[in-house]
Amino acid sequence: MKVLVIGGGGREHALAWKLGQSPKVQAVYVAPGNGGTAQDARLENIALTDVTALRVWAQDNKIALTVVGPEQPLAAGVVDEFRNHGLRIFGPTKAAAQLESSKAFSKAFMQRHGIPTAEYETFTDAAMAHAYVDRKGAPIVVKADGLAAGKGVVVAMSLAEAHEAIDFMLLDNKLGVAHNEGGARVVIEEFLQGEEASFIVLCDGKNVAALATSQDHKRLLDGDQGPNTGGMGAYSPAPVVTPEVHARAMREIILPTIKGMEKDGIPFTGFLYAGLMIDAQGHPKTLEFNCRMGDPETQPIMMRMKSDLVDLLWAATETGPHGRLDDFELEWDRHVALGVVMAAHGYPMSPRKGDAITGLPKNTEQAVVFHAGTVPTEGGGVATSGGRVLCVTVLAESVKAAQQQANDIARGIHFDGAQYRHDIGHRAVK
Ligand code: AMP
Ligand code: GLY
Repeated sequence: MKVLVIGGGGREHALAWKLGQSPKVQAVYVAPGNGGTAQDARLENIALTDVTALRVWAQDNKIALTVVGPEQPLAAGVVDEFRNHGLRIFGPTKAAAQLESSKAFSKAFMQRHGIPTAEYETFTDAAMAHAYVDRKGAPIVVKADGLAAGKGVVVAMSLAEAHEAIDFMLLDNKLGVAHNEGGARVVIEEFLQGEEASFIVLCDGKNVAALATSQDHKRLLDGDQGPNTGGMGAYSPAPVVTPEVHARAMREIILPTIKGMEKDGIPFTGFLYAGLMIDAQGHPKTLEFNCRMGDPETQPIMMRMKSDLVDLLWAATETGPHGRLDDFELEWDRHVALGVVMAAHGYPMSPRKGDAITGLPKNTEQAVVFHAGTVPTEGGGVATSGGRVLCVTVLAESVKAAQQQANDIARGIHFDGAQYRHDIGHRAVK
């Protein structure tokens, strides 16, 4: 069959790479793809991003299955568009994607269905937001309501920072948030302490299949310092998700979410990503929902997946009242997978484009360099074209060994201004 991956980041490179390994797949198209998917002989880039154009192209080219990587096409209704024309696609509808695209929607949803999350209130009025923050005190967390590419959250350690964030988001929109209907809104919530993990499952509307656990590193610099980013590295499995935490997260967060969405008349299909904060007692709370795979979590997770991803997505898109995910047994490589993101000069505020990339190694079974913000150059090479450029991903016996091997590979890759962390996985290194 022919399959289509929508998106062009590291996550989509990893999904396409994994789909391409299935004996059932004749061709994998990536729209729009990147420099890495362009170079991979089993993958082909398609220069389309518009939802209608993608649907027409998929019909014309007899695409059997489509999977959506990023949040923007989901929020734009790509799943509705494909389904309305009888095309098989894995992802949430536009209505269901609000779990990610609106913090106000997802917080109200969690409150309504008793899903553990930080206490919060929503504001459109800056003066009221300022007064609330003064009443609650710091630390406190200010979140813009719309999609913000990982830049819409300010964890304010002081009242001054919280006030500044409110003005940034409600008055100036300096963070470039895509506002939802009704204009600028913020969610202000309680500061939670603990260790974070990414808990990602597939849903067919009713049943779920959990992927291997993972942990992401959101800060730019070693030691979890510097600004928040989309993610500077990730590894799988995440030891903080013990079997008890896993069972709790399923019972208290994931299953009530799927049931709640069904009850609210917007059944959830697609990847559901719960960002968890796990406290010292092992109680998980939901920091956020994403309605897609994580980037860079996908890269290590795909390296560890032994099951055929086509079979899994096929089961998850079986129509009918129940889907088929409950029958699916996922198999994982017992090794640790760890990915180190190499980001462009100036990331995250103003990433520079056009730096030539050299020293890329040949991929092996144990080490793959997934591309994100790269483009092919005329001489047959690649250059930077976005904030996060590459994700060096390895499989190894331990987190420490994986970290060392990924760092060694990253050291051999060159582009001017490259930034990467050397301590990915540090919480799991004993
Ligand atoms: P979000 O996009 O909502 O996951 O927020 C981005 C990051 O901000 C999270 O990964 C956390 O590191 C941090 N964060 C968000 N909400 C909270 C909270 N309530 N308490 C502490 N940290 C938070
Ligand atoms: N790595 C965090 C995310 O994909 O949202």
